[in-house]
Amino acid sequence: MSSSAPPRAIDVSASEADLVHLLDRRLIFVTGKGGVGKTSIAAAIADIAVRDGARVLLVEMDAKGALSTAVETGPLTFEAREVRSGLWAMAMNTEDALREYLRLFVRVPLLGRIGPLARTFDFLADAAPGVKEILAIGKICYEVKERNYDLVVVDTEATGHIVAQIGAPSVIREMIQMGLVRDQTQWMLDVLNDPAITAVAAVTTPEEMPVVETLELITALGERTGVEVSTVVANRVLPAIFDRARLGVFERLGEADDLLRTAAGPSASVVIEAVGAAEARRRVGAEHLEALRAGLPASIETIYAPELMTRATGRRVVALLADALAAELDRGGSA
Ligand SMILES: Nc1ncnc2c1ncn2[C@@H]1O[C@H](COP(=O)(O)OP(=O)(O)OP(=O)(O)O)[C@@H](O)[C@H]1O
Ligand SMILES: [Mg+2]
Repeated sequence: MSSSAPPRAIDVSASEADLVHLLDRRLIFVTGKGGVGKTSIAAAIADIAVRDGARVLLVEMDAKGALSTAVETGPLTFEAREVRSGLWAMAMNTEDALREYLRLFVRVPLLGRIGPLARTFDFLADAAPGVKEILAIGKICYEVKERNYDLVVVDTEATGHIVAQIGAPSVIREMIQMGLVRDQTQWMLDVLNDPAITAVAAVTTPEEMPVVETLELITALGERTGVEVSTVVANRVLPAIFDRARLGVFERLGEADDLLRTAAGPSASVVIEAVGAAEARRRVGAEHLEALRAGLPASIETIYAPELMTRATGRRVVALLADALAAELDRGGSA
């Protein structure tokens, strides 16, 4: 943990850190390895909060445009847009963030594009770590500080970037100890380092690399920033097909292959094989989830979202995931 990061004010224990508490925060970063479901889960978390009557801002950090598909709206811009009652969405953009920062804090009126300034800035940003990141994180923290929304949910870039982003205020602060910079980073740290305000939800799937990256992320965030992962969302978990007794029946059916072919036709063994493959895949997933559980500190709660057996896309997928996460919550958030 960075030397300037204050200790966590409260220790969120496993029994407390469920989604109720996740949704009680005012800022949630949703992160995880590429393709694990960050965008879908971020939109689902926002959905649950909106259903509860909250005013929610969803922020897309990676400019891929997937968030606009998930909430079924047109391309997102830096200017937040209300996509439906209670839900706003925006896409992060460093140049617009710089423009807004200069207008709000330095009070420089800027007309039109800020190309030359942005180029100088790019030069600076490439030379000094944390400079670009702080504009994005500053914009997010500003929305939280101003209480423009009840909840800000950030659909972050894949795992690698989040440590640099969340850590930017500490990095800059340690680099430049001058008054203005110190003041300009302190309020961000006050937002980020308060576990009652800010949470990181790490999304994973029941596969080897996503689990490994999740555990690495937890260590890296803990060591290099004042923010810790509070919740792991295990996404795309395959539901158990059989209970123990039925599994026994199924195994005996496999052994009676010849008998089944005679009784139900040649396709019988294809069906048995397909179900067997699905069960084997679930078992491998369960082993990865066990490795995840074993590696997680007790303070981190895991909530589960199932593999959705649907061809639906966009908002429908998000709504189904929101239902599943909300149901997890009713069961106390752990499996
Ligand atoms: N639980 C689920 N069941 C079935 N499909 C899912 C589930 N979660 C996500 N998906 C699908 O997986 C795909 C990837 O999800 P998503 O875009 O949310 O991942 P991501 O982590 O944001 O990806 P990227 O790293 O590219 O930003 C999407 O098509 C989404 O609909
Ligand atoms: Mg995404």
